[in-house]
Amino acid sequence: MKKRVAPEQRKETSMAGEGKAIIWMNGKFVPFEDATIHVLSHVVHYGSSAFEGIRAYDTPHGTAVFRLDRHVQRLLDSCKIARLDLPYLYDELMDAIRETVKQNGGKACYIRPVVYRGYKTLGVNPTGVPVDVAIATLNWGKYLGKDALERGIAVKVSSWRRAAPNTFPALAKTGANYMNSQLIKLEAITDGYEEGIALDAFGYVAEGSGENIFLVRNGVLQTPTIANAILPGITRDSIIQIARDLGIEVREEQIPREALYIADEVFFTGTAAEITPITSIDRMPVGSGTVGTLTRRLQEAFFDIIEGRARDRHGWLFPIDAKAKVQRAAKKAR
Ligand SMILES: Cc1ncc(COP(=O)(O)O)c(C=O)c1O
Repeated sequence: MKKRVAPEQRKETSMAGEGKAIIWMNGKFVPFEDATIHVLSHVVHYGSSAFEGIRAYDTPHGTAVFRLDRHVQRLLDSCKIARLDLPYLYDELMDAIRETVKQNGGKACYIRPVVYRGYKTLGVNPTGVPVDVAIATLNWGKYLGKDALERGIAVKVSSWRRAAPNTFPALAKTGANYMNSQLIKLEAITDGYEEGIALDAFGYVAEGSGENIFLVRNGVLQTPTIANAILPGITRDSIIQIARDLGIEVREEQIPREALYIADEVFFTGTAAEITPITSIDRMPVGSGTVGTLTRRLQEAFFDIIEGRARDRHGWLFPIDAKAKVQRAAKKAR
């Protein structure tokens, strides 16, 4: 029987260095087509994985990975929460990620490290099942559409909530959590929106299917707290820092659903989504229905840093050539 493929299932991503893409698997570089796992792997049946989404950008000083240290630390944290016994140390993963980018041409790309339970037995009990690690790089353009960053997107409040406390651990970026994200995303797309906003189990604003959310009202920036069932986003953390650097007040607090409708500006943040303005929610315009001035200011300040136009005052850029980082650090110290 032939497998049916819907025409809209076009390829959105491609491997960086396509044609000769190399994937890091358990410490070895293997060709793209050989980077496979067994269909009876634990992860395939139970979603037992932890992963990261990281971007490397072109800067005038060469390709640099944005906040690589924080991403690797979050991967370690996710594994600890999920009781995945990660067989590599922090420094080994830092090096492996940089090396994978280099092996694939050393250009701007999206990086996907994944830690997963492999193949041994099929029972839910993972005792004795090997924990495997892979790192791939992809060419991934603008996640929420070509001109989403410029014109903003239309979103809906999802009928799906984020997981209740003490059910699925929101602070861990685990594969199993993304069934919830898929439901939020699919409902939004099916209903004619570009993304969904999920509330937490108590009805407070949480986040998008793969993004954190910020609101602006009277010049103050608000974002849900980490106790509102959100992933502690690294872009979220960067925007909070950039806003404070610009003298903008930022509040991490519980946000009721209706605050979304009366906000002056709303935007998503995420490694894939970067800073994506939201111009309508549930078919109601956000503010004037166009991209807000504070959103634009933060977007510009963010891109100035990641594309190397502004000074990297917080040390967020990790050149893929580790030597460059050492030389730069040495220069700074002089
Ligand atoms: C559910 C969810 N929330 C938020 C984010 C944003 O996190 P980050 O900025 O670290 O990419 C992501 C993306 O990884 C996500 O999947």
